[in-house]
Amino acid sequence: MADDSTTFPPPAELAANANFTKDMYDRAQADPLAFWTEQANRLSWATAPTQTLDESNPPFYKWYADGTLNAAYNCLDRHVEAGNGDRVAFYWEGDPGDTRTITYAQLTEEVCKAANALTELGVKSGDRVALYLPMIPEAVVAMLACARLGAMHVVVFAGFSADALAARINDCDCQVVITADGQYRRGKPAPLKAAVDKALEHTPGVRSTIVVQRTGEDVAMAEGRDVWWHDVVGRQSGEHKYEVFPAEHPLYVMYTSGSTGKPKGILHTTGGYLVGTSFTHWASFDLKAETDVFWTAADIGWVTGHSYLVYAPLVNGATSVMYEGTPDSPHQGRWWELIDKYKVSILYCAPTAIRTFMKWGEQVPAKYDLSSLRVLGSVGEPINPEAYLWYRHNIGHDNCPVVDTWWQTETGMHMIAPLPGIENGKPGAAMRPIPGTSIKVVNDEGHELTDDSTGYLIIDKPWPAMLRTLWGDDQRYVDTYWSRFPGKYFAGDGAKVDADGDIWLLGRVDDVMNVSGHRLSTTEIESALVGHPWVAESAVVGAADETTGQAIVAFVILRGGAADGIDADEVIQTLRTHVAQEISPIARPRQLMVVPELPKTRSGKIMRRLLRDLAENRELGDVTTLTDATVVTLIQDNMRK
Ligand code: WT7
Repeated sequence: MADDSTTFPPPAELAANANFTKDMYDRAQADPLAFWTEQANRLSWATAPTQTLDESNPPFYKWYADGTLNAAYNCLDRHVEAGNGDRVAFYWEGDPGDTRTITYAQLTEEVCKAANALTELGVKSGDRVALYLPMIPEAVVAMLACARLGAMHVVVFAGFSADALAARINDCDCQVVITADGQYRRGKPAPLKAAVDKALEHTPGVRSTIVVQRTGEDVAMAEGRDVWWHDVVGRQSGEHKYEVFPAEHPLYVMYTSGSTGKPKGILHTTGGYLVGTSFTHWASFDLKAETDVFWTAADIGWVTGHSYLVYAPLVNGATSVMYEGTPDSPHQGRWWELIDKYKVSILYCAPTAIRTFMKWGEQVPAKYDLSSLRVLGSVGEPINPEAYLWYRHNIGHDNCPVVDTWWQTETGMHMIAPLPGIENGKPGAAMRPIPGTSIKVVNDEGHELTDDSTGYLIIDKPWPAMLRTLWGDDQRYVDTYWSRFPGKYFAGDGAKVDADGDIWLLGRVDDVMNVSGHRLSTTEIESALVGHPWVAESAVVGAADETTGQAIVAFVILRGGAADGIDADEVIQTLRTHVAQEISPIARPRQLMVVPELPKTRSGKIMRRLLRDLAENRELGDVTTLTDATVVTLIQDNMRK
């Protein structure tokens, strides 16, 4: 097991040819604005910006404000004009095994057709278009067609309910919806358009829907409202003259959950977002566009899909894999088979996926040739050292750096990551701020902490891909992010800076527990639990306790077969003691429950709020964002036993 001092230096070959050098890092930190001025050259501007950052009205910052450009041109046409039209933009792999290889020239033509179709339907600059689509190429085409016209896309994850879709459509006042007849799930078609029909009963503002034919099943088409993608897009010309927009023209709205029930519409704009995402994609993954095959295994319904599946790879002219299906369909080796097939060199995925693969066993990836891999990325939650080491060893064969990227829907781009050519990897730590950014850990009073003690993560200088506001709610933007520590961006994450100056993320602040006056991180205890050979996955919550303020309640999934034949009570006591030994007796869970599943949102995040409700015997709050609501009943049954 690794401890805090375990580090892995960059592989020699990677270090020798790294995109980003130590010298560049030092220059960026010494003069961030000069650095971001220089990075603007990644884009093709119609009018080059003369001003990098406008700080005249904080926290409503502007980047590259007098520059003009078109986002889709930067993702598409300019690569074709540069002679790279035949380069593959996407190797798309469908869930049932159908495939498409799409070059930059083909993608450009498709986007032009879709832009012409949207124009025919009356979509113009500044409009909002909702996208409710599976992971099919048309999803990317639709996003870029909106961008080309200066219309905002509002992508809603296709696993969300009709109610959730309607709420987002209404909040953003979308006039057009793009969807599909159905979507594949583990080889079987499932309806999708039906949910749109239901949502649209409550969305008076929607005048048209465009329906992609994916599964071929029967759908109801409302006369005068619904049109088929293949009709309306299919008949268009592949030529489209794009318009240019100011750098601060809105690019998209993406909804994410806040601490209240009402989702927040995060607004991203054009120039700064494209500079920040394309720079980090190039630096964090050491991307070599001519030779790498890059795979973000995330859905376009999340910000990771926006920034690192669509915009950054395309701005950088990269070749990506896009996969529609699940990791275990039709078999548990599907991801590794795809890496082998497409010679993927950079894989970007979430720790929850890695822990699932650990559960399935290392014999599964061992059957495939993964030697094309050279960089492994992680995103979405802290990667516990156990998963880090498993990923590094069983997938990266000990010669790929693991790049743990900390960021948020709000930040748009990576904010903390170990740049693979210049920084060591340290299992469990996200390491250093991205060059040109300024990030600190502070205590309740806002004083900087650098002594390994737990505090709040703040960002104390604006960064190009930052959110600009919450859609329709400037006040909530100011209150949520800029008021806890006035003038600084409050991320909502707990963190610490260790003796080497490296940053560790410790989970959301609302997941930080206070037990008898001791501040403890749920993540730290979860990491200790999954470090035990019996444990596959765990979730820890702080439940109200009369004597200690909060008490630790742990939910644990055992690895198949690992604790067979051992008395249930002995399992529980052993694991509680294990935590006490690994962290401190203060961290010994008051209660530990062995459960068959954990309640997760569709993006794979454990719903701790729900577990807290369960641990405190409370009425359960909203469960509509759960992937599988029956999990809750399973846990309740288990608790009664
Ligand atoms: C929250 C943001 C970033 C895209 C996907 C999630 C947590 C994210 C890490 C990481 C520790 C992480 C934070 C953050 N988070 N990446 N590498 N290490 N925590 O985006 O849904 O906006 O969630 O995810 O708690 O605040 P999101």
